[in-house]
Amino acid sequence: VLCWFYVFPGYRLPPDKDIVAEVLRQGDVWHKNQTGIDLYRDLLTKCCNPKKMFAVTKENSPIGKVLWYDGEIYHSHTVNSETYQLFIKENPLPLPLKKCAVVGNGGILRNSKCGKDIDQADFIMRCNLPPLSREYVEDVGTKTHLVTANPSIIEKRFQNLVWSRKIFVDSMKAYGSSYIYMPAFSMAPGTDPSLRAYFALTDVPSNLTMLFANPDFLLSVSKFWKAHGVHARRLSTGLFLVSLAMGLCDEVTTYGFWPFSVDLDEQPISHHYYDNILPYKWFHAMPEEFVQLWHLHKSGILRMKVGHCS
Ligand code: CDP
Repeated sequence: VLCWFYVFPGYRLPPDKDIVAEVLRQGDVWHKNQTGIDLYRDLLTKCCNPKKMFAVTKENSPIGKVLWYDGEIYHSHTVNSETYQLFIKENPLPLPLKKCAVVGNGGILRNSKCGKDIDQADFIMRCNLPPLSREYVEDVGTKTHLVTANPSIIEKRFQNLVWSRKIFVDSMKAYGSSYIYMPAFSMAPGTDPSLRAYFALTDVPSNLTMLFANPDFLLSVSKFWKAHGVHARRLSTGLFLVSLAMGLCDEVTTYGFWPFSVDLDEQPISHHYYDNILPYKWFHAMPEEFVQLWHLHKSGILRMKVGHCS
């Protein structure tokens, strides 16, 4: 039988309406494939060693270690006594993680009523400091264990923390006592804002722990997906987190991964559950990523929740 993802290999994507039809055809059918889960965990461990490498730690980045930026050509930071003291000792996550929820920011989450489902996971990962205010709780849940923070958010939303840090520190309370995962060593302009965010959080009593994403890990994950047919200038934050989750968790369910302009009823939806600001087209390849993740869903390796949770 010719499968959908064989008919449309690599970057020749089917039109959105065919993707909708395929997702509807599959319905709620999902069978866990333990062999596949173990195989993928092994593949990810071999390529990227998430357990040891996902964050910059004192263990993997001693003084003198050169951190090559993964999003920048020939740019590096050599770990010195000042930066070294900002790094966590070793991977702090309580491994193995059991049920993980990776929450993307897709508009498909709106009115999904997936909040309860998400909050039932043992470890919940979110992208880019998303809003968790009361109006969204029913759809996206309340709990967070790890949330990514892009340095550009610090710049745009918090005036680079040059003025008041209070707004930043207060808004971070939404994430409880989670890990803030920042790609501080990916792009040159991102380092200073990341360090400022680190100090803003450590200068006051806070339950949050800053983790800097390890550029070696990010690069190896990018190479892994390139070899699997994702042709993007940079992977989306969500795909990095799914890769991390597949390497660390017994079970992975994704929510809010739906980079299309219509929902399953072919009604128009916004790009994010909280706004409709679109990504730069040339930068990410979210629909290609979706096709890869859908393939994993159909193979029982991870579970994608698209549409309503009931
Ligand atoms: O920083 P980036 O543009 O990658 O992410 P975002 O817009 O804050 O959304 C977080 C993640 O959710 C993305 O990285 C995608 O993996 C996923 N997403 C999606 O699959 N479909 C959407 N419509 C929006 C986001």
